[in-house]
Amino acid sequence: MDCIDCHNRPTHRFLPPNKLVDASMAAGAIDPQLPGIKAKAMSVLSAQYTDKAAALAKIRQDLRAYYQKAFGMDYAQQQKRVEQTVDEIVKIYENNFFPRMKTRWDKYPDNIGHMTSPGCFRCHGGNHASADGKVITRDCTSCHVIIEQGPAGSVEKNTDGLMFRHPVDIGEVWRDMNCFECHTGN
Ligand code: HEC
Ligand code: HEC
Ligand code: HEC
Ligand code: HEC
Repeated sequence: MDCIDCHNRPTHRFLPPNKLVDASMAAGAIDPQLPGIKAKAMSVLSAQYTDKAAALAKIRQDLRAYYQKAFGMDYAQQQKRVEQTVDEIVKIYENNFFPRMKTRWDKYPDNIGHMTSPGCFRCHGGNHASADGKVITRDCTSCHVIIEQGPAGSVEKNTDGLMFRHPVDIGEVWRDMNCFECHTGN
């Protein structure tokens, strides 16, 4: 294998809204206490716009209208934190979305991983077998040792490795169905 079988985007990685918004929320730059902020932020980032100026104006307008409605009479009091979050979302857009070049995460997927695009699962998806029936592994533990998982308050830990538990109940579907078929990044 060559480096570029995996590294199709050594730099200029255009990350999906899901990852960008999680990172900013974790850093506190997007206020995680704003009601509905994750879904709303992902939706304004994923929408298609004709050019950057139009995008930035529309993103500001949509977010303000959403929180004016959500907060009603209290909006004036909440305006400062709304505006800080709006500024952060605009900054995320400016750094990761380039409408004139039609450049965004779903147009130029990153092959490292398998969450929002096939990536490693192009070969490790469980459907590549040799003539004598040897399948390229899809076993999570050949690439990961999960040492911690679960929601705050009931985190399971084991430095010898845990069996993956999908965060919401989808049965055992994840064992055969590839992550990117449900997780599109937005
Ligand atoms: C089998 C797939 C695969 C191949 C082939 C591969 N890499 Fe990687 N590489 C990875 C993964 C996975 C990471 C970790 C990426 C991350 O943490 O986001 C990584 C990380 C790196 C990093 C660190 C990047 C960073 O941002 O810290 C460098 C540099 C790198 N690889 C160079 C190479 C070079 C040079 C080759 C060819 C000689 C190569 N890789 C071949 C999968 C691969
Ligand atoms: C172009 C096809 C291809 C891609 C893409 C690919 N692999 Fe592989 N990988 C293979 C093949 C072939 C083997 C060897 C299978 C064997 O010998 O049983 C392998 C083996 C491995 C193994 C050893 C597994 C074991 O248990 O022996 C690891 C670890 C691995 N790959 C990681 C990665 C990672 C991480 C990525 C994505 C960043 C990746 N591979 C992408 C083809 C690929
Ligand atoms: C061929 C190697 C390989 C296999 C097999 C594999 N993964 Fe991964 N996985 C990766 C790589 C590489 C990344 C990306 C790491 C990064 O971006 O730093 C990743 C990322 C992840 C992530 C983080 C996703 C995100 O973007 O937040 C989870 C969760 C995950 N894998 C779970 C699993 C589960 C569950 C399985 C088994 C069904 C599995 N992986 C099988 C290589 C593999
Ligand atoms: C049948 C659809 C489906 C498949 C397949 C699936 N997921 Fe999920 N996943 C969901 C749903 C629904 C949620 C909860 C909604 C949300 O948070 O986006 C979720 C949430 C998650 C989350 C927490 C939220 C996030 O985005 O970080 C992780 C991590 C995750 N899944 C990992 C995986 C991994 C790894 C695989 C592949 C091994 C996978 N999922 C396969 C449907 C699926």
